[in-house]
Amino acid sequence: MFITTNLSAEVIARSPGRVNLIGDHTDYTGGMVLPMAIDRYTTITANPIAAAIQLTSADQPDKLNCKLPVVEPAATVPAWGRYVTGVAHLLQVRRGFSGSVSTTLPLGGGLSSSAALELATALMLLAVNDLPSLTTLELAQLCRRAEFVATDVPCGIMDQLTCASGVSGSALLIDCHSLQVSPIEIPHDVHVYVQFVAHRKLASSAYSDRVAQCAQAEQQIGPLRLAEVGSVRNIDDEVLQRRALHVVSENDRVRRATVALALQDMTTFGQLMNESHQSLRDNFEVSTEQMDEAVRHAQQTPGVFGARMTGGGFGGCIVFVADATADIDNLEGAMLVKPVGGAEIN
Ligand code: GLA
Repeated sequence: MFITTNLSAEVIARSPGRVNLIGDHTDYTGGMVLPMAIDRYTTITANPIAAAIQLTSADQPDKLNCKLPVVEPAATVPAWGRYVTGVAHLLQVRRGFSGSVSTTLPLGGGLSSSAALELATALMLLAVNDLPSLTTLELAQLCRRAEFVATDVPCGIMDQLTCASGVSGSALLIDCHSLQVSPIEIPHDVHVYVQFVAHRKLASSAYSDRVAQCAQAEQQIGPLRLAEVGSVRNIDDEVLQRRALHVVSENDRVRRATVALALQDMTTFGQLMNESHQSLRDNFEVSTEQMDEAVRHAQQTPGVFGARMTGGGFGGCIVFVADATADIDNLEGAMLVKPVGGAEIN
């Protein structure tokens, strides 16, 4: 039995963003990632209404006003509303909401502002339609599909699953094949910072290209998640070899970084972050000169264990991990982020 939502009651749904500590461009081949949900949120505050979604945004000039059920989410105007209508389309709900959305995440900054909006929308729609709650994995899978139907970007599961299932004080080791999520505690005296570098450019087409290249490599040597570095040499194309080398070595780095974190061996953890950046830059070619420069600067700062670009690349943020002595004042705009719990409804 479900409790009928009071039509006049305000509902608040919010989702954190995420930062990935290590393991980028591995999730869509079922590889390993080590992200954490962060204390920056997208929040929808709304009242239930019939047959429509009306949403104003604190950060965008144009309002979303769409009828339910949603037929063609990809055609939604304004464009930011596609993440909302993508979810509504998949849920095929009749009751919507009227309210506002705001975020403390940088938009297009590689910290999963879109996954956070999808998750907040999904929780809101489930609540106002009196639908039973979903598991964090079901929510994440729904939102990942929503992103694909709304934007055509064949993203992996990392962002949505991290924002849905964050654990306070911990990073999450996620096996993107088995979808097992294992919290790994981050020592209290280890500080995680993100630094916004630039808005992402050309990110979605370049991302789809990389996904396609990994699939081509897999046609030659089988699943990359099971491959050894040695077998990469059997790929007949130099570019595909480098793409595969990144994925195979990155999976290995995530495993080793997880052990290092559990042992509180932050020197090794930091070295693996630095190696990850090098591989994303040289083998996977998803970094930019500006990001490389920011990473170098952070790596040279005393007290910083390691630094790398984070997320899909082509702009966005870098992440670095430091001890309490690190003087980050000369790393412009660096912000301390804390690992938090996942998306929730009030
Ligand atoms: C984006 C995607 C994720 C993942 C990262 C790269 O954030 O949404 O699924 O592939 O890029 O690790």
